[in-house]
Amino acid sequence: MTQIRYAGNSYAARAGESVLDTFLRLGVEFPFSCRKGTCHGCLCRVTAGVIPAEAQRGLDAERCAQGYALACRLRPAGDMEIVSGKAPAAAPACPAARRSPPVTLPDAEMWQALQQGVLLNTLLEDFYTRVYADARLAPFFHGVTKQRAIEKQFLFLRQLFTGEKVYFGDRPRNAHHWMVISDELFDYREHLMESCLRAHGLPEYLITRWLAMEEGFRADLVKAEPRKRVMGGMELPVDGFGETVMEVGTLCDSCGGEIDAGTPVRYHLRLGTTYCPGCALSA
Ligand code: HEM
Repeated sequence: MTQIRYAGNSYAARAGESVLDTFLRLGVEFPFSCRKGTCHGCLCRVTAGVIPAEAQRGLDAERCAQGYALACRLRPAGDMEIVSGKAPAAAPACPAARRSPPVTLPDAEMWQALQQGVLLNTLLEDFYTRVYADARLAPFFHGVTKQRAIEKQFLFLRQLFTGEKVYFGDRPRNAHHWMVISDELFDYREHLMESCLRAHGLPEYLITRWLAMEEGFRADLVKAEPRKRVMGGMELPVDGFGETVMEVGTLCDSCGGEIDAGTPVRYHLRLGTTYCPGCALSA
């Protein structure tokens, strides 16, 4: 039976039953009203487990990216963990964030100011050139090419601002699971972004809006310890190597030699770097 972890307890859901119905059946106190996805009163946030698309229907792109879902439409396909979707009571650490306006996404005006992606691309090129030259931020990007960082960020932002489903990478909470990012480092990167947005002439009110959007990810990224990556309700190791047999040919990330399909290889769990049998011994 599928288990739903919530507020320190675990509840067994029946097949096809929504999280809200499970809670109501078991007498678990949980906010709700219409029970049909209109009022959003049962908004929750999935912190582990797979979210069916149906449970995010009607939510904006930012909330979807942050793992929010409606408990009345959330029918778990496997074990999951949720928290109530109410906004955290604690004030954000950054003084700029406390002045943040509410974020409404998608943001057609922002996308237009970003020249339907043309300016966004230039801007990200500049931002990541600064990041890769920055002694504090560059080490996080070891093993990631600048081009890959730009492309992923571009698609992520395009999806947020336009609402088009074009980003298939990890949600920020998972993508940054191993990174120890303090509030101060988050602010530091934020200031770099802010000066970049200004240098490329984005109007001040849109800079404020952009920063407010990024602020929404602070709670996902800032942490004192690495966090495990959660996929399909399962926690994956933070680091280390796995072994597999290649289904298609590739090149060894260490010696550059060819690896044929059918060859057993070693790969880094986080970076995905793959080592041929010869290099695997020293990886
Ligand atoms: C100090 C703050 C931050 C640091 C050090 C950081 C670092 C990184 C690094 C190293 C990657 C590459 C991961 C990889 O490809 O393996 C990455 C990816 C990414 N970051 Fe950040 N980041 C920060 C803040 C943010 C913020 C505020 C956002 C959201 C607005 C964000 C969104 C993303 C996204 C969407 C990806 C791509 C995820 C994927 O690879 O699937 N990051 N970040």
